[in-house]
Amino acid sequence: MNGAPNASAAPDGLSIEAAVAAPDGLSIEAAVAALGNGPLTEAALAAHIAPLFSRMRDAAPDRVYLANHSLGRPLDATEQDLGEGVAAWYAQMGGAWDAWMAEMRAYRTRLARLMHAASGDCIVPKTSAGQGLRAILNSYDASGERVNRLRPRVVATRGEFDSLDVILRAYAQSGRIELAFVEPRDGGRFDTGDIVDAIGERVDLVVVSEVIFNTGQRIERVDAIVERTHRAGGRVLLDVYHSLGVFPVDVAMQDVDFAVGGSYKYLRGGPGACFLYLAPRHLDGSLRTLDIGWFAKREPFSYARPDPPELAAGGDAFLESTPPVLTWYQARAGQRLALALDVERVRAYSLQQQQTLVGLLRARGFAAGGGTADHGAFVVVADPRAQSWCAALATRGIVADARGERLRLCPDILTTDEQLVRVADALGAIASR
Ligand SMILES: Cc1ncc(COP(=O)(O)O)c(C=O)c1O
Repeated sequence: MNGAPNASAAPDGLSIEAAVAAPDGLSIEAAVAALGNGPLTEAALAAHIAPLFSRMRDAAPDRVYLANHSLGRPLDATEQDLGEGVAAWYAQMGGAWDAWMAEMRAYRTRLARLMHAASGDCIVPKTSAGQGLRAILNSYDASGERVNRLRPRVVATRGEFDSLDVILRAYAQSGRIELAFVEPRDGGRFDTGDIVDAIGERVDLVVVSEVIFNTGQRIERVDAIVERTHRAGGRVLLDVYHSLGVFPVDVAMQDVDFAVGGSYKYLRGGPGACFLYLAPRHLDGSLRTLDIGWFAKREPFSYARPDPPELAAGGDAFLESTPPVLTWYQARAGQRLALALDVERVRAYSLQQQQTLVGLLRARGFAAGGGTADHGAFVVVADPRAQSWCAALATRGIVADARGERLRLCPDILTTDEQLVRVADALGAIASR
């Protein structure tokens, strides 16, 4: 490849960010600083944060957007950030790799800070959460120790998102893993005791979401799942897609082995900017995966082919082939906003909004849930008509979504109380037709 990445030229990713300003001359961090240190308020968010989203607002001024749990809203700065990555390509052709690799390190560092990982080295960029899961499943094949042993035993909940679910079942169907599912109880909730029981005395991998994608349930006592898994000789992969950016996630304190997630939702980074987290104890070379490529080699640009291959130290040993680079730019503004806002404040504001919406909906006779500590960021209305309600809301300019019989409504920092009333009124009118 012309213009090989030059690791030594990498500036510190976080100082690059500080230099990047929004079009009005205000950086994201300065806009957040203008909010002050107290709890978030609708008035302060409208004054200081909404202007960072002017492109999206101007595209559809009357739209009420409550699908923030699905595709997060992009900041204006995202276009500039992408432009920066592309500009390097125009100007430097292969020489752009220095800037692109610096952005990869910045992306990894920011994610590490967001989830309290020890360092950016623990974060491996992936284009999907599912790709991260496969890298771990393919670590069992890669380690010679497994030869002549039983197939890896994997325990997962029935509430894993479709992507991880289908991958796990494909591995089970091809005989690569032995798979056990934990079923939800009545009402669709998972009981931590059921997960611990399913782990039993022998497990290799436990796959569990911190927040379940369709019900919004926050799994209780992840620590008990981790403790039991480790005692049974296994490892835990936590899916943080619906928790990172929603409430404080601390993978180090939770002592999980792996985590997967992405930027599509609460991190406002669009598709393709995902990651696999590996705990530092798995970065000493003892864990290997088949999912590698030449960027995982110790000296990829020497084009040497030692046999057996020599891989880079730490998390770089999990890199793959020539990566997509623009996703790191695409994710930058959303990560900066999430870091600057402080997730504790975002969580407090989200719970308040959810409680308001749940109250409005219950007053109109809906079975709505959300706004409690054991819940993620979206409100759920359970009803067999959820799909048709969602379509009817869309005709009134209200964007939500439905999973089966559950309508999902997710306010965010740009949602106003007046919009919440509009949604409740609209749903009331639709349901009484
Ligand atoms: C809990 C959870 N995990 C993963 C994903 C996405 O998986 P992938 O990146 O493999 O498409 C989603 C998407 O909605 C999700 O809700």
